[in-house]
Amino acid sequence: MLKGKHIILGITGSIAAYKAATIIRGLVKKGAEVQVVITPAGKEFITPLTLSTLSRKPVISEFFSNRDGTWNSHVDLGLWADAMLIAPATAATIGKMANGIADNMLITTYLSCKAPVFVAPAMDLDMYAHPATQENLDRLRSFGNRIIEPDEGELASQLTGKGRMREPEDIIACLESSLTSDGELANKKVLITAGPTYEKIDPVRFIGNYSSGKMGFALAEACARRGAEVFLIAGPTALKAKHPRVCQVDVDSAEEMYLDAVGLFPRMDAALLCAAVADYRPESVEEVKIKRETAGKITLHLVPNKDIAAALGSDKQEGQILGGFALETHDGMTHAQDKMERKNLDFIVLNSLEDQGAGFRHDTNKITIIDRTGSIVEYPLKKKEEVADDIVDKLVTLLK
Ligand code: PMT
Repeated sequence: MLKGKHIILGITGSIAAYKAATIIRGLVKKGAEVQVVITPAGKEFITPLTLSTLSRKPVISEFFSNRDGTWNSHVDLGLWADAMLIAPATAATIGKMANGIADNMLITTYLSCKAPVFVAPAMDLDMYAHPATQENLDRLRSFGNRIIEPDEGELASQLTGKGRMREPEDIIACLESSLTSDGELANKKVLITAGPTYEKIDPVRFIGNYSSGKMGFALAEACARRGAEVFLIAGPTALKAKHPRVCQVDVDSAEEMYLDAVGLFPRMDAALLCAAVADYRPESVEEVKIKRETAGKITLHLVPNKDIAAALGSDKQEGQILGGFALETHDGMTHAQDKMERKNLDFIVLNSLEDQGAGFRHDTNKITIIDRTGSIVEYPLKKKEEVADDIVDKLVTLLK
């Protein structure tokens, strides 16, 4: 299924670089053309001769070829690629990617690459768990890069934990299923928001809501199953997306969700806004825990959060489809229609807390889909996975 695909394999300075040889063999066996770009540190772990023999192409490492002085164009490479895979990706390279530090051929190629980028981290458990690394990985996710999560296991340091690069066959399977989609949403990019947002009061307290993320995650899986590349911006939830075509970006607050959604939307064909975004946040966040004994009765001053749906509605371009949700407790139809108009949505999914088994936390939901033509379709109570399929049917029709 990877036949004829052009893949840039970026290799960095990690002991897991030896696995790159197996990755190249696997990709070439499947008919892909592989161009290796290696960092100077990467060459300490695996020789360019091994890599060029397996990939049947000279390995690129420097901006100029040492042999004849020709210029290696990172721009041409970036345009040639159907995908870029960085495996293994060290903490240093991930940090440079997240911050645009273009001091080697691999990073300049990454910054020029228009194709999907896959990153397979490899490092020691503490380096992987460090907040700096995790923030950099979140940043890459917010750029739409796919992180191929490392395994838990024995590491080169002989410690045991999370940080081992995934096995070559898993990495190839992830690339394969991402690049060779079929289904009604093949080649479409869909943004989904899911879960609650948490608005900080002090270091231990927040304003939140009961959203579990189940409905939004079911939508993400349904879109991916039908072939879409999905960018799932998730508020605080224990859920993890399963499908390899779902790129999950975790956020906490409405402001973070807003920034990621507005940044990603211009590259999307559609967005489905299922998150229960907090409408208000405390005007200021206390630096230390508020103590009842000393503070006594307190007043929280709340300021409105930005409306993500309305912002995307006003940025929406011809051909992009925007679907939202309305969670109501009364007069559902009136409020839902009003929200669809005000936020410039193409359709809205009404779910009401008046219906048993609908809304927050349940495994089921009962919805009505309303669109701009005046069509109103009511559905019976169903599992959230089935509800997601009904919503995706609507999206598919509108995208046509
Ligand atoms: O996560 P679950 O437990 O499975 O529950 C699913 C759900 C009940 C959260 C979901 O089905 C749902 O109804 N999500 C929308 C909840 C909501 O906030 O509705 P709303 O009527 O307040 O908002 C209307 C629309 O504007 C929504 O698409 C919402 O995502 C969006 N919005 C709202 C406020 C804001 N600041 N930005 C937004 O984008």
